[in-house]
Amino acid sequence: MLNEKVVTLLNTQINKEFFSAYLYLGIANYYKDEGLDGFSNWYTIQAQEERDHAMLFLQYLQNNSEKVVLEAIDKPDAKFSDLLSPAKAALAHEQYVTNSIHEIYDAASGVKDYRTMQFLDWFVKEQGEEEMNAETLIKKIQLFGSDSKGLYLLDQELAARVYTAPSLVL
Ligand code: FEO
Repeated sequence: MLNEKVVTLLNTQINKEFFSAYLYLGIANYYKDEGLDGFSNWYTIQAQEERDHAMLFLQYLQNNSEKVVLEAIDKPDAKFSDLLSPAKAALAHEQYVTNSIHEIYDAASGVKDYRTMQFLDWFVKEQGEEEMNAETLIKKIQLFGSDSKGLYLLDQELAARVYTAPSLVL
């Protein structure tokens, strides 16, 4: 059995990851409406990854015979008025998720739950990559987003992203 507080935090993280998927689908829809199919593709795949993250937390609880509690997922109500603001919202959200993962890690570490710490190691690394990706995209939009040719090429670059299943297998 896992520690009760750790289980609660892991359950909460399922909800946060599904909300992340919702947030990214909202961003994908915004860019789709703006005619930027490549941006929309990039965030749709990001949403798929977030759903995978949610399922990994769910499976981890199941594998440890712990009860999974599914709560309502909040509406992603961010309204975007320019091309840059969704990317900035995404970075802020990833930083929030990183803190959340670290909070679970702290709780697991406090009760010497080495199994959960090892499970979370993959997410700690993943968050580093996701923050870097979000920062890179912000920089590219700032550099090329105000020029129509630059924006077209950036959209094509983002259209090339393909979904890959997570490397973590439980
Ligand atoms: Fe699942 Fe982007 O954090």
